[in-house]
Amino acid sequence: PVTAVIVVAAGSGQRLGYGMPKAKVPLGGDSILTHALRGVAAAGLAQQICVAIPPGDADLRALCQAFEQELTAGHGRLPAPADGVQPPVVTIVDGGASRAASVRAALAALLPATEAVLVHDAARALTPEAVFHRVSHALAAGALAVIPVIPVVDTVKTVEPTTGDGAAIAPELVTGTAARETLRAVQTPQGFELATLLRAHEAAEGLDAGQAAGVTDDAMLVELLGVPVHAVRGASQSLKITTPLDLIIAEGLLEGPLG
Ligand code: C5P
Repeated sequence: PVTAVIVVAAGSGQRLGYGMPKAKVPLGGDSILTHALRGVAAAGLAQQICVAIPPGDADLRALCQAFEQELTAGHGRLPAPADGVQPPVVTIVDGGASRAASVRAALAALLPATEAVLVHDAARALTPEAVFHRVSHALAAGALAVIPVIPVVDTVKTVEPTTGDGAAIAPELVTGTAARETLRAVQTPQGFELATLLRAHEAAEGLDAGQAAGVTDDAMLVELLGVPVHAVRGASQSLKITTPLDLIIAEGLLEGPLG
């Protein structure tokens, strides 16, 4: 299918504590966004790469434009395109106030021929090519929605804020324990038949502000439609760079097995 990859890079990156959008933060001599874009291009399955950046961010726009140059010239992990093979079109859009709004802005800018779309967090900058391929193969095999997942190593509990006398003892009270063998941690790229994702995002526009704040991925919106979401194997290298510790791990991955 004609495939677009949406890279969402419009987050503020406050939890990383660099005082700049996360996509700009340096990782192994390049930015997080540049690593993410090279990973998408190296997977070689997109006719279009559509990047959502913070509105008006000239630095990130320039990074995307430099990446576009790399695509035609060839660079490092990216071989120059073979004769007659068109490199993917790079489109830059202004992101929105939420991740879902950034995805919607990108969906509005896809080429008319697009049939399938992968939505990828820029923060998952070191995602292996194999993960892109597993997602895209599941789509080609007929899935309308597919996500990469990994097993959960921690025991996961639900909690609520403690009220009354208990508040003096601890801030939260446990309300339940999920069965770990049925839990998966969810990564990106998440792949969709385009019409299904468009329908899911249209339906999401009817959610109230509280519900909308709880939308943390695209598959969740597709689940709300009642469409089956398939899960393929993700990778631990696909970690979402969120905290300073994650950045240390990512630097280590670049110096080690991936470098
Ligand atoms: O906030 P969270 O860690 O879930 O963000 C996941 C991804 O969504 C990041 O790559 C971030 O740049 C992107 N994002 C966005 N627009 C927003 C918020 C987050 O593109 N308004």
